[in-house]
Amino acid sequence: MSKFRTILGDCFEEVAKLPDNSIDAVCTDPPYGIVEFSESEVAKLRSGKGGIWRLPPKFDGKERRPLPRFSILSNEQKSDIEKFFARLASAIEPKLKPGGHMLIAGNPVLQANVQAGVVASGWENRATILRLYHGFRGGDRPKNAELEFPEVCVTPRGNYEPWMLFRKPISEKTVAANLRRWGTGGLRMLFGGRPLPDVVPSFKTPAREKEIADHPSLKPQHLLRILVRTLLPTGSGVVLDPFMGSGSTLAACLAVGYESIGIERDSEYFAVAESSIPKLASLYPQFVGDTLESDDLNGSATELHAQLRLLETPAKYSRR
Ligand SMILES: C[S@@+](CC[C@H](N)C(=O)[O-])C[C@H]1O[C@@H](n2cnc3c(N)ncnc32)[C@H](O)[C@@H]1O
Repeated sequence: MSKFRTILGDCFEEVAKLPDNSIDAVCTDPPYGIVEFSESEVAKLRSGKGGIWRLPPKFDGKERRPLPRFSILSNEQKSDIEKFFARLASAIEPKLKPGGHMLIAGNPVLQANVQAGVVASGWENRATILRLYHGFRGGDRPKNAELEFPEVCVTPRGNYEPWMLFRKPISEKTVAANLRRWGTGGLRMLFGGRPLPDVVPSFKTPAREKEIADHPSLKPQHLLRILVRTLLPTGSGVVLDPFMGSGSTLAACLAVGYESIGIERDSEYFAVAESSIPKLASLYPQFVGDTLESDDLNGSATELHAQLRLLETPAKYSRR
């Protein structure tokens, strides 16, 4: 059984304490508004006040997860995001082996700011993996003028989440030499020697995972297992998640058989992670992320297929 280590603290302080060249890959789902996981915004979320968190109305009896409102960020705040990611990438760079990859979850509006910040710190922008699923919001209508402009929406409806892939430059002349020296520089292929495609069909985090780990940004195991698995080309090494939340990345590493380190500064989320990592890892014991097939996810496959069908079915508009 692979090992995992959880650290309660600020990731910038804790990453600085790690030995140089001791990490093989990074997989993380960071805070975005930078403010949305600040103490005051988390307090507003927990007390139901909202703040940057959009608390969706329960209009049909269903409880919807709160979502951070990135659209309200000013240009200055977006430039702060760029600086934040430049700082993060610089902090992690010496700790990662040359040729190591870093995968960062994002959203389409802020993707360019993240990439600019990380690349400014000397990293290579390698690809963006699109997590494709039906369920992101968007397509909002002009507020209070829906009837006046019946054919207008202000944004497209979101159907993907970008996971941005970066690489610390290799230190050797070739990827092969880098792989021999450090075990890094490439990506691990899926079962049968298929490279991971840059579009991965996915679906919402299943209810049974949310019952285990109560975090507003919980990512699904099936997706994380595929993603973390691909980050270690030789099938072994240590994956770091500096924004661990409730530990879904570490759980995926455990299920895939990788070592991992997670850092979380909020003590409540840290406690959730401690208890949920082994439980999330024990779900779907047959699924180790080496295939995109999710048929063995008992029950969830139906949901996946239903969502893919929704993506493929054009909306039914009545023509005038
Ligand atoms: C988007 S959430 C990650 C959720 C995670 N993917 C999951 O499935 O549970 C980001 C997390 O980073 C934490 N965080 C924010 N700033 C931090 C910092 N400087 N150091 C460590 N953790 C931080 C927040 O408390 C939050 O739990």
